[in-house]
Amino acid sequence: MSFSSKKDTILIKDVTHTYKTETGLLPVIKNLNMSIPQNSFTAVVGPSGCGKSTLTKLISGLLQPDEGEIYLNGAKITSPKPTVGMAFQNPVLLEWRSIIQNVILPLEIVPNKLTLLEKEQRAKELLILVGLEGFEEKKPSELSGGMRQRASLCRALVHKPEVLILDEPFGALDAFTREDLWQVMHNLRKEEPFTGVLITHDLRESIFLADEVVVLSGRPASKQYFIKVPKSKTPKLDSLYSLKSIDMLKNLRKQIEIAQKQQEENK
Ligand SMILES: Nc1ncnc2c1ncn2[C@@H]1O[C@H](COP(=O)(O)OP(=O)(O)OP(=O)(O)O)[C@@H](O)[C@H]1O
Ligand SMILES: [Mg+2]
Repeated sequence: MSFSSKKDTILIKDVTHTYKTETGLLPVIKNLNMSIPQNSFTAVVGPSGCGKSTLTKLISGLLQPDEGEIYLNGAKITSPKPTVGMAFQNPVLLEWRSIIQNVILPLEIVPNKLTLLEKEQRAKELLILVGLEGFEEKKPSELSGGMRQRASLCRALVHKPEVLILDEPFGALDAFTREDLWQVMHNLRKEEPFTGVLITHDLRESIFLADEVVVLSGRPASKQYFIKVPKSKTPKLDSLYSLKSIDMLKNLRKQIEIAQKQQEENK
């Protein structure tokens, strides 16, 4: 049975999740409803500890909700799927493998008919797209943090997942490297459309990258606020300093304050 309209890749329906800890039950997500349209990029922001990473685990099938359902293209998610890629704050690259071998890894795990040469070609194309041409044979420790994160994005996309979940992927990088990677993200999306879910604490990042921003309430998280972000085909960093962007950022900041206050009160 399908609940999602054709245009939604991910549908989160009345999801509730509670952790059972040694000190008792910790309700983390409560009656969360949201949908993520196909090939759109949705940013999720909210106070620290409100349940954002838990949400990524639920969407990726690593955790099952206590109540409610999550659908991927109309099919209920009950286990991790190869069509869902993930990237995190600290890229875990295998030190004994070269960069290109790290990028190829998912193609060695997810069944496919590519020859080794084709796999290498695919990885190389992505590495070129993110500006890592010439670093294919280097080891991860020979790269900077920003370069490692670029490689990790290539690895997350090499098997052409339909959905890419990013949990604070640029959180550990300095401000300028982070802005470079925002552009890289736009290039990747232009060349290879996918449905993105971005968890971030950086409101500028959320409006620069995403088509829609969801603010989660304080724990237990539900959808508190939602905005659509108008996008140009070639987004420029300058646009973040426009009056429209500043208004949007002020608005989001206010929503975060409301969520933080609520989380404090629920403690
Ligand atoms: N496996 C777990 N068992 C028990 N409690 C957990 C578990 N994972 C997370 N929690 C708790 O659930 C709450 C939400 O955690 P989560 O990691 O989803 O928050 P978050 O919004 O991603 O936070 P941050 O912004 O700091 O990354 C926190 O209070 C955390 O301590
Ligand atoms: Mg988190």
